[in-house]
Amino acid sequence: MKALVLSGGKGTRLRPLTYTTAKQLIPVANKPILHFVLEQIATAGIEDVGVIISPETGGMVQDALGGGAGFGLRLTFIVQDEPLGLAHAVKTARAFLGDSPFLMFLGDNLVQGGVAPLAADFRRDTSTSIIQLKKVPDPRAFGVAVLDGGGRVARLVEKPKEFISDLALVGIYAFSPAVHAAIERIKPSWRGELEITDAIQELINMGHAVAPRLLEGWWLDTGKKDDILEANRVVLDEFTRRRVEGTVDEASQVVGRVEIEAGAVVERSVIRGPAVVGAGAKIVDSFIGPYTAIGRGTAVEDCSVEHSVILDNCRLRAVHHIEDSLIGSGARLTRDDSRRRVLRFFIGDECQITLS
Ligand code: G1P
Repeated sequence: MKALVLSGGKGTRLRPLTYTTAKQLIPVANKPILHFVLEQIATAGIEDVGVIISPETGGMVQDALGGGAGFGLRLTFIVQDEPLGLAHAVKTARAFLGDSPFLMFLGDNLVQGGVAPLAADFRRDTSTSIIQLKKVPDPRAFGVAVLDGGGRVARLVEKPKEFISDLALVGIYAFSPAVHAAIERIKPSWRGELEITDAIQELINMGHAVAPRLLEGWWLDTGKKDDILEANRVVLDEFTRRRVEGTVDEASQVVGRVEIEAGAVVERSVIRGPAVVGAGAKIVDSFIGPYTAIGRGTAVEDCSVEHSVILDNCRLRAVHHIEDSLIGSGARLTRDDSRRRVLRFFIGDECQITLS
């Protein structure tokens, strides 16, 4: 069995961060989402992995993953020239996939417990494709599946405008090689993409077996700012263990499950977990609250930060009550000492600032 990881796309909903990085490389708990994805694939016992990349961000993805040896995987990078849909990505990877059954994993998705259970189900019968479903409060943003009385997949619709089901298609699938013939038969959707959802519907129409699998644990689809914060919260909650390798002075308190990487410095501050502080970061006279990730080389002085993701090499000074924030690498956020209560901004394209 092979795996196909999709790591292309433009990431428009995560601008401005995606002007300079691939959305799959945005870190949660200081680790790129794509690293979690590859670790989960390796744990499922799959070694041969194709990674779909775009011409715009492909180089960065390749740099971040290398040949895959670090994950125990063999990676083959495949360029998808244009973002023409998930089924188009599978078509682009045809030479790599050959007639092998494969697990397809959208590189900005994560599921609790990884993909080993799905891979185990699929190994028992690789002629039956498997879709994973998760009940969601608002299914309009996803592909959805309608099940019949016997629990079989009756119908699939991509981003339905009217309510037909609250079972969303999780972006992780297991496909028999029959999917290629189905993809050849579908036409682009209204958004001009070859939809994998339509290809699965076509598989069913052609009489091939497609089994649903209901996901019990959490599912994270990290396509927007609030999704990243949610992913950061969930991942910190689940994976953070107390590990203090940086330097913490006597006047500081580190409370609960906090990871402070070697080379980080904490002075006269309180850090309350779950939280992570990256190597080379400096936290001075500050409060770092639960569910916060401080990137590598970031300096925080006289600030309070909670439930936020601060990426690498930022400078934050004298700003309090930072909450629910996602701050891109190298950003500066400071207060000057003049008494005039003015706000001065130098903000990149498509940023979002909320003052209250
Ligand atoms: C894609 C799929 C959709 C699926 C979703 C999961 O949506 O088309 O069926 O539910 O991923 O993340 P997109 O991210 O292209 O909007």
